[in-house]
Amino acid sequence: MGKLGDRIVARIRSGGAITFADYMEAALYDPEDGYYTTRASIGFDGDYVTSADLGPAFGKSLARGVSDLWSHMGRPAVWDLVEAGAGRGILMRDLLSALERERSDAVRGVRPAIVEVSPRMRGQQSLALEGRDLRWASVAHSLAPIKGVLFANEVLDAFPVHVLIRTPEGVREVFVGEQSGALVEVLRVPSQDLRWRVPESVPLGGRWETSPAAEGWVASLAGALVSGYVVFVDYGGEETDLLTRDGAGTIRGFAGHRLISDPLAEPGRHDLTASVDFTAIRRAAEGAGLRFAGSAMQREVLLALGIREATARPSIPIEQLRAASRRSAIDALLDPNGLGAFRVVCFAKDAPTESLRMFGATSATGSMR
Ligand SMILES: C[S@@+](CC[C@H](N)C(=O)[O-])C[C@H]1O[C@@H](n2cnc3c(N)ncnc32)[C@H](O)[C@@H]1O
Repeated sequence: MGKLGDRIVARIRSGGAITFADYMEAALYDPEDGYYTTRASIGFDGDYVTSADLGPAFGKSLARGVSDLWSHMGRPAVWDLVEAGAGRGILMRDLLSALERERSDAVRGVRPAIVEVSPRMRGQQSLALEGRDLRWASVAHSLAPIKGVLFANEVLDAFPVHVLIRTPEGVREVFVGEQSGALVEVLRVPSQDLRWRVPESVPLGGRWETSPAAEGWVASLAGALVSGYVVFVDYGGEETDLLTRDGAGTIRGFAGHRLISDPLAEPGRHDLTASVDFTAIRRAAEGAGLRFAGSAMQREVLLALGIREATARPSIPIEQLRAASRRSAIDALLDPNGLGAFRVVCFAKDAPTESLRMFGATSATGSMR
């Protein structure tokens, strides 16, 4: 089962079964053997791809959204651009390059920074962003007071979740126990006051996942921001969307672009993720002093930001091929059954929430031309 699996088995033997959330925390972030600490591999040669891996169009469009937000803040002479959970660092790289090319007014006073917990990811980020003056921190609080834009692409889904099940005897929580050296699910009375989080309409036998860790993290970002915006991009849905799944859970693991069949097999060797409950995230954000500024599918947001802008057809064949490959990357970013169905959610603090171009407003205060 691997070194981490053996350590988890030993931990369970001495202290009893652990919650699925504790298991997921260890599998992803154990300081010695967690997936993100030691092995995470993002990109076409790795375990999974994110929008940033499909080329610079995603970063370029986000740069337009970010520069709009900067304009809405009143074009501050000095402002922070903070990415939380930056993976390989290529989204921040593409975003900064696009700002440099197209918005010299905004980029002049920008102070870029990354909030990242994984030393392995930080190493990759510093390679992608070599030569740039950037600050790194493991918690947003270290960068406070943040005035500007904070964004996180596919990070909320990487927080540990508690798994609850409605049974005839009441709500039970999935714990991880061991049987003959293998990790197995066991049901227990919920560890905290989590039972109240399970919506009434979850059917008997149905699963409900909840992430106090993700909610606490959102509150920590809100606490570090004094004015500006927080933008999350991720898969998941509102509570009502998640309830239409007939009680099936959303936890899944990926290795080498394949779904792994058993999330309890070989912890630390593969990614683990769960769909984001954006209703809970909004509640946490608003509870921590942020104002909701809008939400839409990634497809709608990228189209509103002009990702399909017309460009002249190149005359040289190789350039035509490059243009075709860029177009197919954009199709993938907009795919309503794939990345295009991701959700983009924006919150504000001491900044306007109206007329945001990314959510379809036609009169942006600072278009990227
Ligand atoms: C799924 S990856 C997404 C990477 C990148 N944003 C992208 O789009 O390619 C999740 C990233 O979030 C980082 N992460 C996880 N928990 C975090 C936390 N509490 N604070 C900061 N970063 C975190 C991981 O180390 C990893 O870099």
